[in-house]
Amino acid sequence: TVMKDVYGISDLEIDLQQKLKLKRVIVVPGQSEETEEDKKELGRIAAQHLLSILREDDIVAVTGGTTLAAMAEMLQSVKQYPQVLFVPARGGLGENIETQASQVAAECAKKAGAGYRMFHLPDNLGSAAFQSLKEDPYVREMLGLICSCSVVVHGIGRAMEMAVRRNASREVLQQLKNGEAVGEAFGYYFDRQGQIIHQMETMGLRLDNVQQARYVIGLAGGKQKAEAIIGIANAGFLDVLIMDESAAEGVSLLV
Ligand code: G3H
Repeated sequence: TVMKDVYGISDLEIDLQQKLKLKRVIVVPGQSEETEEDKKELGRIAAQHLLSILREDDIVAVTGGTTLAAMAEMLQSVKQYPQVLFVPARGGLGENIETQASQVAAECAKKAGAGYRMFHLPDNLGSAAFQSLKEDPYVREMLGLICSCSVVVHGIGRAMEMAVRRNASREVLQQLKNGEAVGEAFGYYFDRQGQIIHQMETMGLRLDNVQQARYVIGLAGGKQKAEAIIGIANAGFLDVLIMDESAAEGVSLLV
């Protein structure tokens, strides 16, 4: 179990903050890759943290994935946020319906009494279609909202696993391999040092939007994500990293 001090911060968290050079690390007890209950607990703490930093007029960009879906499921708020807007970070990344970013945005919004917008686009658009869609008024409006987000909450994936999950081409897989990509977040693939190895050709959040956001929350569980987490932490845009105990132990072994 994780022992917290009087400020609610454990030695493990302080140690990881220093080693990963992050302002804040939150370690949630449990092995979220093994039990559904632990994954929900990770989601619950993340939701609580999000609400604790939320301001009345924030635009919150969220990604998809099972961990973000757990956060949406566990979000509970007495206070309502009618001026807050939840948006998906990206328009379509080839995920299951339940774990799509638009779905996560809608569920978070309903539970927080906030507004939301969905953004459904086909994956792997050809570049001609991609260019003309960029001029579409609906797409432009959505991109405007997403790119001006003030808060980002994103999942962290293992690079190869995410690329395969999203049916990446053989060229992309090769590029990730050659570049030694370890982690993925919002469609960007990073190596262990936090350098970008590849970015998906989907519409939505760009890295500079993330860098400009007021508050960025990275969320991950499971020991097998340790290297991915290190890559994302080294990319330098996180305000807080929230992970389960098994991920924290995995990271400790590698840094
Ligand atoms: O970008 C990373 C993925 O969204 C993480 O997905 O939470 O299902 O492992 P996951």
